[in-house]
Amino acid sequence: MRNPTSSSSFSFATAAAQQQKRQPTAPVPLSEFGREMQAGLARRPRRISPKYFYDAAGSQLFDRICELPEYYPTRTELRILGECAGEIAGQIGPGAEIVEFGAGSLTKVRLLLDALESPRRYLPIDISGEHLEAAAERLKADYPQLVVQPIAADYTMPLVLPAPLGAGKRVGFFPGSTIGNFEPDEALAFLQLAARMLRGGGLLIGVDLVKDPDRLHAAYNDAQGVTAAFNLNLLRRANAELDTDFDIDGFAHAAFYNAPKQRIEMHLVSRRDQAVSLNGERFGFVEGETIHTEYSHKFTVEGLRALAVKAGFRPLAVWTDPERLFSVHWLAA
Ligand code: AVI
Repeated sequence: MRNPTSSSSFSFATAAAQQQKRQPTAPVPLSEFGREMQAGLARRPRRISPKYFYDAAGSQLFDRICELPEYYPTRTELRILGECAGEIAGQIGPGAEIVEFGAGSLTKVRLLLDALESPRRYLPIDISGEHLEAAAERLKADYPQLVVQPIAADYTMPLVLPAPLGAGKRVGFFPGSTIGNFEPDEALAFLQLAARMLRGGGLLIGVDLVKDPDRLHAAYNDAQGVTAAFNLNLLRRANAELDTDFDIDGFAHAAFYNAPKQRIEMHLVSRRDQAVSLNGERFGFVEGETIHTEYSHKFTVEGLRALAVKAGFRPLAVWTDPERLFSVHWLAA
């Protein structure tokens, strides 16, 4: 395989042949996804944010990932939340207001709500407003005493929350080790923002732990190929929404553990020399060239606590499973 990030040996003959097959269209204003894809294909190394994984098909594939035998994080976190719910509730106290960042389908929070003493209000924040409203309606039906106020917003941006309802703590909930999908500086910026937003309360955060690289490798290279389909779905989504002409079979899923950086890196690797068009522009790929799609950072318990201190939190309790695969942290703000 050639240098994955070099485009110097791109075959212009191949590109010219492909160019003839498809006439470039006049540029049109692009969606945010389109603009990021265009910028991501133009830069080196190529990259696109993992936030674009989650169209309807991508969200369904992610739900399947969470059920895979190799993908331990979801079931391990649920186990910790279930088994330690009483202790967690003890730390949080009565009358709390829960703010969930990137709430999705609102399943994990039920374990917390069931254990808390008289939770007052639940504010799930998610970029996908429609999905959020439907999930919030279902939750309201099951917790009639709870005030549920969904907020359709990007939780990585500063936002003004409604004034507190009572004297209980304002508690952020950020499960699933989504913090690991941020770059290190983004993770710090998010935690700093959360610490300001939750002052006087705290953050309950689920974080995947550094472990045997083979176990990590298997979790992102499952035998059924669901993670590969999830990664490649990004190109399907681009073809459907941006009118790109990615040949899905022309790309391969690649995920590996970068031990010095303590992270899984996920890429889409071009299987051959080829070109892709987006909004009238052609982007050439040499065989082996990649589009980076995701980081999934892993932490040590101490590393996460040190990062939390840097962001302005006071780390208090931490819960893990017996194998120390995953951790849930209570950080006072
Ligand atoms: C959402 N996020 C925490 C998952 C992870 O493990 O980084 C996304 C994922 N990517 C591949 N498999 C799961």
